Amino acid sequence: MNLNKYKDYNIVEHVYDVVVVGAGGAGLRATLGMAEKGFKTACVTKVFPTRSHTVAAQGGVSAALGNMGEDDWRWHMYDTVKGSDWLGDQDAIEYMCREAIPSILELEHYGLPFSRTKEGKIYQRPFGGMTTHYGEAQAQRTCAAADRTGHAMLHTLYQQSLKHHAEFYIEYFALDLIMENDECRGVVAWNLADGTIHVFRAQMVVLATGGYGRAYFSATSAHTCTGDGGGMAARAGVPLQDMEFVQFHPTGIYGAGCLITEGVRGEGGYLTNSNGERFMERYAPNAKDLASRDVVSRSILLEIREGRGVGPKKDYINLHLEHLGPEVINERLPSIAESAKIFANVDVTKEPIPIIPTVHYNMGGIPTNYHAEVVTLKDGNPDHVVPGLMAIGEASCVSVHGANRLGSNSLLDLVVFGRAAANRAAEILKPGASQKDLPEDKILAILDRFDKIRHADGSISTAQLRSKMQDAMQADVSVFRMEETLKDGVDAITEAYNEFKNIKVHDRSLIWNSDLVETLELSNLLANAMTTVVSAYNRKESRGAHAREDFPSRDDENWMKHTLAWLDEDSGEVTIDYRPVHTYTLTDDVEYIPPKERTY
Ligand code: FUM
Repeated sequence: MNLNKYKDYNIVEHVYDVVVVGAGGAGLRATLGMAEKGFKTACVTKVFPTRSHTVAAQGGVSAALGNMGEDDWRWHMYDTVKGSDWLGDQDAIEYMCREAIPSILELEHYGLPFSRTKEGKIYQRPFGGMTTHYGEAQAQRTCAAADRTGHAMLHTLYQQSLKHHAEFYIEYFALDLIMENDECRGVVAWNLADGTIHVFRAQMVVLATGGYGRAYFSATSAHTCTGDGGGMAARAGVPLQDMEFVQFHPTGIYGAGCLITEGVRGEGGYLTNSNGERFMERYAPNAKDLASRDVVSRSILLEIREGRGVGPKKDYINLHLEHLGPEVINERLPSIAESAKIFANVDVTKEPIPIIPTVHYNMGGIPTNYHAEVVTLKDGNPDHVVPGLMAIGEASCVSVHGANRLGSNSLLDLVVFGRAAANRAAEILKPGASQKDLPEDKILAILDRFDKIRHADGSISTAQLRSKMQDAMQADVSVFRMEETLKDGVDAITEAYNEFKNIKVHDRSLIWNSDLVETLELSNLLANAMTTVVSAYNRKESRGAHAREDFPSRDDENWMKHTLAWLDEDSGEVTIDYRPVHTYTLTDDVEYIPPKERTY
């Protein structure tokens, strides 16, 4: 390859069958699966694998194992469709709920140290919106390793990936996808430790880069959750799907934003307002504190809005687990006790935790089918597959979560679709197949963009611009939304997007340059924020996590469809179109679940 223009950069070339970008639960499950299928597999990750954000997942992973009472994957499917407020694709939901069972048993056999029942089976706890017999009773479906399930999952999958000789490129920042004629041919990454640039050629690139919670001021997400995959996909001409659906977890610690797992309420914890009232009984008479997350978050904010918040400013709610006793807390919720002590100075055996809804999960992302292949709308075909590109985990939108994800369906989505990606690759690719040369002009364009940002000499710092974006997203694209605030959001985020052209990078080096990393991350966050705010402004109904006060009802006739948002990188303009929701199942084992009113 002749990249003379950049002879000062040290450029290294690689050829792999598969390159996975990201080493959280989804990325590691795909890496392990690809390597196991005989593909020469690289995993490129900006953080050490076991420090990926999956490490923060606490409560567990759903699967209808039936270890703690009757269960059936069809009931799991019903709950997920209802939880999604009928925006989820039912073929993908069927696939996920059915495949949950072998996927979790496989994890057990890989060595994941699940908590155990007295009989030695995997321990399962109740989680919000999970029921048996199509809504009749609360299910115990969430498989847990105490309150450190994500941590246990990462260690297990990393060990298994190493066992299968997957190769890791750790602390490498992926810059952009190498696209040729709408096909993905590889990816370019920057080695943060020594400044070298790495050009990866691959038959398949799998984006597993996680969500973009850090587009908001307060989020349970790690600071590394900057939507890098969404940013790269958008620059590659791929639309982002259903970006308006942003989940607020009901119980982030007041002031700090750290997650307090839904598992607390699964183990019997409950919420009270300033009158000491268990207010969820009014909003969700059946499921109460274990209603779905969108419902609980809205109820908390309504209590605060109506003056029944707790504390001097009446701006939080209490979460009680004192009554569970030290034995249950120590065995099932040890990390929660620690987080509450550190971040709220609360001894959970004696007093409640102050909580507030906090941004937690992005239902939207890179559109895929249930094989993890990226799809787009092309020549009237809403399911056109983009060759050479897959997306999994929170970076993707399969769509199994639709307008609202149920707790513990995320860890599940990671493993089921990480595994599906490897199964699909084995069907369509051949290990070691020859690959043609990469298009030099495309690599040059990627380096041009990188070099330009590296030498950016404008007048606004990355931190200033990031705050501007985060404040606008927090204020204008929140739990409750309306025309005026969303319009303010569109204006503010458009301004921030355009101001990126005036960014100032202070450090020009290539070695551990955190200023440059944060600036590249900011450009990705802005791509995600821009498509989110425009998609939210555009959707004129309320569904799941998208609660419009000016359009309070769900409108299936006009809006039971997926939003697709294309971003023009230069102008920041967003073009909207739609894909139909998949209103069919994969097999005759289960029937399509038609829309109905969603109550808990
Ligand atoms: O509450 C929790 O433990 C989070 C789980 C999830 O988001 O799935």
